[in-house]
Amino acid sequence: MQRRATATLPDATAALAAALPMPIVVLDPAGVVTFANVAAQGFLNASLWALRERGFAAALAPDTPTAVLIDHARVAGNTVTAYDTEVVLAGGAMVRADVFVTPLTDGSGATMVSFQARSVPTLVDRARVSEGAARSAIGVAAMLAHEIKNPLSGIRGAAQLLGDSADPEARELTTLIRQEVDRVAALIDRMEGFTDTRPVPKRAENIHAILGHVRKVALSGFAQGIPIRESYDPSLPSVAGNHDALVQVFLNLVKNAAEAVAAAGGTGGAITLTTAYRHGVRVAVDGAKPRVALPLEVCVIDTGFGASPAVAGHIFEPFVTSKRAGGGLGLALVAKIVGDHGGIVEYERVSDPPRTVLRVLLPTA
Ligand SMILES: Nc1ncnc2c1ncn2[C@@H]1O[C@H](COP(=O)(O)OP(=O)(O)O)[C@@H](O)[C@H]1O
Ligand SMILES: [Mg+2]
Repeated sequence: MQRRATATLPDATAALAAALPMPIVVLDPAGVVTFANVAAQGFLNASLWALRERGFAAALAPDTPTAVLIDHARVAGNTVTAYDTEVVLAGGAMVRADVFVTPLTDGSGATMVSFQARSVPTLVDRARVSEGAARSAIGVAAMLAHEIKNPLSGIRGAAQLLGDSADPEARELTTLIRQEVDRVAALIDRMEGFTDTRPVPKRAENIHAILGHVRKVALSGFAQGIPIRESYDPSLPSVAGNHDALVQVFLNLVKNAAEAVAAAGGTGGAITLTTAYRHGVRVAVDGAKPRVALPLEVCVIDTGFGASPAVAGHIFEPFVTSKRAGGGLGLALVAKIVGDHGGIVEYERVSDPPRTVLRVLLPTA
């Protein structure tokens, strides 16, 4: 096969660009990659050969906003800068970076693309949900659902009887038990319908009310003695979601966080719940579907040691667990439910100060 003639950079310029620590890629007017420095090959996790043959398709996930942006800017001949965007690589990894697209002024019609990786917070580990992994949890979930449902009505009835003869403080707890049992029962009803993958009924929900409920349940149970701090954006709009399913998501995340804090031992361990509105976070959740805006960010942060390297890359897959009594289904269910909401969940280990962040991005109502 004859190689297409491509414009190359003048020697001195090429040597200079090759030595720069900043990732730089040059495209000719037809969009063919003519140059990529070592930093770019490292950043994009693609060889110069692969980039020459396949362009950015060799490095970026199809339909990632970055690829679209680069294409538009190149064709229009404009300088475009996208700050703090999520660059999704072909392997599924996500990197936060500023992306600069600039036409070169040497009359060649070439375009330079450069990236400035965001170094704070430091990404040590980041796993993105794989749809397939979440799906294989479904069969198991359906089986478990059947086994769990029977004892629930007994628990609910007992809590009601206790509540009738209890003082007001204890009655608040028995009410909590009943609410939780009802929630689990409703969840199981839906899990039994997993096979027909019906869309979950969604309404406008206040995410802070959901987090408040989860916090209360956690503090009166599995997270007893661990401070759960709240840092909310009070102006956050409603989420388009299913109340019970979202409670389940954040219960699972807070439970893992509590277990991580407990495992780390010592004093000063804590869990923090944060919410924020993120402009411009648009993601193609599924190649075929249009890009959706996911501006609602909810983070569950803990001061534990984070996942072990062996687990970190597979954290959302079913049966992945590092705990003796763990089932490894908590995060698989989180991934499934968040996916049903058109959202995204990510695991991130941040080094300064050391903390584990589980980040959920959701659409507004
Ligand atoms: N906040 C966290 N900190 C450290 N490791 C975590 C955290 N959340 C999840 N993990 C890791 O991911 C694994 C899977 O979590 P999960 O699906 O909830 O299953 P389980 O909690 O039953 O083990 C855990 O066993 C643990 O190793
Ligand atoms: Mg768990």
